[in-house]
Amino acid sequence: MYQIIDGKKIAQEIKEELKEQVAALKADGKTLCLAVIQVGNDPASSVYVGNKKKACAYIGIDSLSYELPEDTTQEDLLDLVKALNADKKVNGILVQLPLPQHIDEETIIQTISPDKDVDGFHMRNVGALCVGSKGFVSCTPLGIIQLLKRSQIEIEGKRCVVLGRSNIVGKPMSLLLLQENGTVTICHSRTKEIKEITRQADILIVAIGKPKLVDDTYIKEGAVVIDVGIHRDENNKLCGDVDFEKAASHTSAITPVPGGVGPMTIAMLMYNCVNAIN
Ligand code: GUN
Repeated sequence: MYQIIDGKKIAQEIKEELKEQVAALKADGKTLCLAVIQVGNDPASSVYVGNKKKACAYIGIDSLSYELPEDTTQEDLLDLVKALNADKKVNGILVQLPLPQHIDEETIIQTISPDKDVDGFHMRNVGALCVGSKGFVSCTPLGIIQLLKRSQIEIEGKRCVVLGRSNIVGKPMSLLLLQENGTVTICHSRTKEIKEITRQADILIVAIGKPKLVDDTYIKEGAVVIDVGIHRDENNKLCGDVDFEKAASHTSAITPVPGGVGPMTIAMLMYNCVNAIN
């Protein structure tokens, strides 16, 4: 029998812990404030941004919301980011991605002060993760480590395979697993004989962005499978990168979609915000 890793429950536990920490900070006269910027009105981004602001309100973090029109210029967005960098009341800055095509995401991300970069996307924070020093870490991989630890799943000495090499998930995920003394392999779209590699994994992290790609044939009996994907299937039902129906019985533990990794991303954003206090 396999365990379903309940991300919603673990995220709630973390939010309760953070709520207490924020209350203690407030009693000390300290306040926390996250600035959230959305450019345009992509419906998925609007849902994510709404959930982030709701989580802030829940744990007692102030949020400033900037909803900018689709045709905002890069200069105007840079000016806003620079003003927020200089604003002492603002501890964290989040620019929701993706940005409209005419704006260079990398330029915007690298302009956010690394001390306020609660997404952990700035080069200084990525570099800090790489050499094992202090800094903000991308929320989704940070949340996955918490899911594993709080489910008593040991990482040390395990064969960990990460499917996907994005800057937001795959790369930081691999570095965090390495930091936890896992033996890490990264697979991507050009990897040959991918199943031969994934079938060696004790812990398989799937962040490949393809609905229901990973079925039982990718999985070693008894492996732990973490599904980062979120899509709508042919019946408009939410699904992940893993075909849960086919995969689950081959695992010892697996995350569902929804209710697995998703809620953890927001909980860890809140964690980063609390740690952005100066
Ligand atoms: N778009 C999708 N995921 C994220 C995220 O974690 N942070 C930001 N800023 N934008 C996103």
